[in-house]
Amino acid sequence: MKKLNLFAGIFFSLSLLSGNLRADSGDKEMGRFISNLMKRMTLEEKIGQLYQCSGGFATGPNNTKIDRTEMISKGLLGSMLNVSGVANTRKYQEAAMKSRLQIPLIFGLDVIHGFRTGFPLPLAEAASFDLEAIERSARCSAREAAAAGLHWTFAPMVDISWDARWGRVMEGAGEDPFYGAKVAEARVQGLQGDDLSDNSTIMACIKHFAGYGAPIAGKDYNSVDMSMGHFANFYMLPYKAGAGAGAATFMSAFNDFNNEPSTGNTFLLRNLLKDKWGFKGFVVSDWGSVGEMINHRYATNEKEAAYKGITAGLDMEMVSECYLKNLKSLVEEGRVPENLVDDAVRRILEQKYKLGLFEDPFKYCNEGREKEVIGSRQSREDACYVAERSMVLLKNENNILPLAKDIKKVSLIGALSKSQKDMCGAWSCADVSKVVTLYDAMCSRGVHVDYVEGYDLEKNTIIDLNKTLSSARNSDVVVIAMGERAWESGEMRSKGDISIAAEQQKLVSELVKTGKPVVVLLMCGRPVIFNEVREKAPAILCTWWLGSEAGNAICNVLWGDYNPSGKLPMTFPQHNGQIPINYQYKSTGRPKENGGWSTKYIDISREPAYPFGYGLSYTTFEYSDVKVSVVKKDGVYANVSVNVKNTGKYEGEEVVQLYVRDEVASITRPVKELKGFEKISLKPGESKKVVFEITDEQLGFYNNSMNYVVEKGDFTFMVGTNSRDLQSVKFTLN
Ligand code: NOJ
Repeated sequence: MKKLNLFAGIFFSLSLLSGNLRADSGDKEMGRFISNLMKRMTLEEKIGQLYQCSGGFATGPNNTKIDRTEMISKGLLGSMLNVSGVANTRKYQEAAMKSRLQIPLIFGLDVIHGFRTGFPLPLAEAASFDLEAIERSARCSAREAAAAGLHWTFAPMVDISWDARWGRVMEGAGEDPFYGAKVAEARVQGLQGDDLSDNSTIMACIKHFAGYGAPIAGKDYNSVDMSMGHFANFYMLPYKAGAGAGAATFMSAFNDFNNEPSTGNTFLLRNLLKDKWGFKGFVVSDWGSVGEMINHRYATNEKEAAYKGITAGLDMEMVSECYLKNLKSLVEEGRVPENLVDDAVRRILEQKYKLGLFEDPFKYCNEGREKEVIGSRQSREDACYVAERSMVLLKNENNILPLAKDIKKVSLIGALSKSQKDMCGAWSCADVSKVVTLYDAMCSRGVHVDYVEGYDLEKNTIIDLNKTLSSARNSDVVVIAMGERAWESGEMRSKGDISIAAEQQKLVSELVKTGKPVVVLLMCGRPVIFNEVREKAPAILCTWWLGSEAGNAICNVLWGDYNPSGKLPMTFPQHNGQIPINYQYKSTGRPKENGGWSTKYIDISREPAYPFGYGLSYTTFEYSDVKVSVVKKDGVYANVSVNVKNTGKYEGEEVVQLYVRDEVASITRPVKELKGFEKISLKPGESKKVVFEITDEQLGFYNNSMNYVVEKGDFTFMVGTNSRDLQSVKFTLN
């Protein structure tokens, strides 16, 4: 057995006072500058650097609005969140420049999917399987946010989740750790670029470390309980990739992890992140999560919470004031060595230095740039480009889509098609007034649009059915915008039932009965259950929430200016009872679908509505000639190749997916795991050969000693268009 040892010895002992306390030592000049500065700082000033207060609206409880200007000008505050716009950030930065040592503030905000120009939900973007598009989106977010005086976004959220009840799945990249890791890297690269001091880049924040996407029963903020092996193989990779990509910051999660709150979790923050992965940036708590260790009944009071946070490796406290009020006495009493505080301070100052703020604290405060960059033509183009690529075509019977260019009359049904606010999706910073709705976009295409509300989204009931049906009968095509409201997903939006309301589904059935072609636009922030619509509607396009250019992007897809290419980054279940659900389950001792004694339900199917990686195109692709060949190249065991041909009428993109199954291993392994994908574009009739290299990344896993190992033996490689429809070849690693 070949051992890679990437994770070995994770349970080594803590060395709080030793050389393990290290921020970035790479840049000598920076090191000297910060050491000199720190020599001049009082303990209070150091502790001030570890505090972040909210300066604006609330994104959590206990948002006491206190004017912090005086504190800032005394040098007792390091950072603010929820303040943006050059005028605002300048005001506070000016106060910081009045302080004794003139240490600049850093301003953070949840720039989750675009700033004033809204982009698709992160989950929707993940459906693009287009890492360049995802990076482009993050770059645009950074450009606009930086122009508004911001230095830092609390993104990307990289939490893997198999549970669509959890409202925050909208903010991640879905269920798969391999893919999640690639998306995390792309997002960090897009936000930070290669140079943080460039005034169009901002710091990324990998969150929520760790395991936040697996709250028990899908309830936000709930406890998380998983074995280390489960964490390492199914949840850890995107965090590690984010650290590897150079993310400047991490955020600790609200939940407990292995029986300790993540915020006070020495294993996670100090041993794994800082020591093992060599993370040089700083860790910020989540909103109030240092104080919340008291609610977890893990700390008796704020002082003990501060003690647990700082010893665990939590550098900056967001909103709660345990550090601010208690660290000084903890140091004076000798319980917390001052070098723990120093390490946290140094990590924060280093990022301020890298942002270039010591050279020019106002470098992100330029009103001219703010006006020019925000909402620029470039931003709008980027938003539309990414939105087009985020949609997933779920059904297209009789090739109803794309609509013919000469379609004259569309019956457009559903208030969502006119809602600027909903188009933005949850947790959006977008300028709502600049959002192009579907209705607007259709009208500006010159189509005759007969709009009918059809359904009351507040009361969840069909309204004016006769009017709706008569509009449908008098049209060439019926387009219905249905699904969830935007606010139904996001933080604290967990649901016990992710089904689309029965009445809304019934309306679709009524429309289908008119005999007119019906196109369903499924708008949602999470996988939803809509079995009646799945069965009855001939065409279904999942549009999620697409941001400022939603209407234009949807029309481009409806009329075939862009051929949809998205694939589901999360399994869509058929029943709530199937959740948590994913494609990467294990075989179990009784795996068979048929027969009594097997892993299944007696009342519902165990098959999903749509599997991970699923998504159609207006054209068709044929997969052939799947082969494996042994390769004699350093680090590569084999190549898996496949020919993909566009057999339809339209040019289109396909996400070619590689899955791997380790047939027998020293621990139980999933039935298959995504280990490669490539998005290719093919003209009608064109073929391409796609080759995947098989390396340790494709074959290995973390064993129960937390070592990354590659074991000899038999593997099956599967290639195809989604995680279900695959062709396989066998391979033996000798
Ligand atoms: C709580 C959320 O969990 C986190 O993701 C966010 O960044 C903070 N609030 C700040 O708004």
